[in-house]
Amino acid sequence: MTPDIPSRLPSVTATAYLTPLREGGSLPGLMEADDLGTYVVKFTGAGQGPRALVAEIIVGEIAHAIGVRTPALALAEVDVEIGRREPYDEVQDLLVASAGTNLAVDFLPGAIGYDRAIMVPAADAARIVWLDAFVANVDRSARNTNLLIWHRDLWAIDHGACLRFHHAWGDVDAFARSPYRHDDHVLRGLGDPRAVHEELSTLVTAELLTAVLALVPDAWLAPDPNRPDPRAPETAEAARDAYARYLIARLAASEAWLS
Ligand SMILES: Nc1ncnc2c1ncn2[C@@H]1O[C@H](COP(=O)(O)OP(=O)(O)OP(=O)(O)O)[C@@H](O)[C@H]1O
Ligand SMILES: [Mg+2]
Repeated sequence: MTPDIPSRLPSVTATAYLTPLREGGSLPGLMEADDLGTYVVKFTGAGQGPRALVAEIIVGEIAHAIGVRTPALALAEVDVEIGRREPYDEVQDLLVASAGTNLAVDFLPGAIGYDRAIMVPAADAARIVWLDAFVANVDRSARNTNLLIWHRDLWAIDHGACLRFHHAWGDVDAFARSPYRHDDHVLRGLGDPRAVHEELSTLVTAELLTAVLALVPDAWLAPDPNRPDPRAPETAEAARDAYARYLIARLAASEAWLS
């Protein structure tokens, strides 16, 4: 049984650009939408390109399925006029280049950044470390934790740097067996990923991955004209198959990345 994965991500239309989140390297923006929600919008036109948004969806939805708290995701339609109205060139250029569908991450108002002085349950830490090792997340260091405390709970954000194989589409086994640098993880020693491996690995089924991959817009999976790569899958469907292959192979090679 696949956990509660919807058949598509909710779609909202952005109504206003509030402010850039300057601590984020990709210049995400806080936006209001027509469902009266406030979202952190990550843009297709950012330097990291649409692949970062693909990683956000795949890893964010796997996180959700294995019990890691992460803000809900949606697709946000951004009209080019909202960009044209922006006074700052940097923001205007980004919004105009991103007209169309972008990724909306539910904004957690009042959340603060996690640091190791804050006590967190070992079970939460173990799940997050397990997830990060599985998807090869390099963005959970002490300097850039990408973890928030909200309503006293630990929330994981910013999964755009995971799944690095999609920048080169190299050997599946080489990715599957690549070790994980546990020493660099901000939660190192606070929860044991081996203790949750049996439970979590059984949740990450081929069926789950199919459901998660179906949520990614075709346009973000098609070859990126700005980054020609002869090894990249030629169609969105081929890309979905490839992501599933790399992830299933990595799951099967857990001894390489669990510790
Ligand atoms: N859903 C959210 N709710 C509240 N604050 C958020 C949320 N998402 C992001 N932020 C804030 O915005 C910052 C930038 O977001 P994020 O880390 O996702 O962007 P990025 O451009 O991918 O960053 P990085 O420079 O780490 O690659 C976060 O560090 C956090 O302070
Ligand atoms: Mg970040």
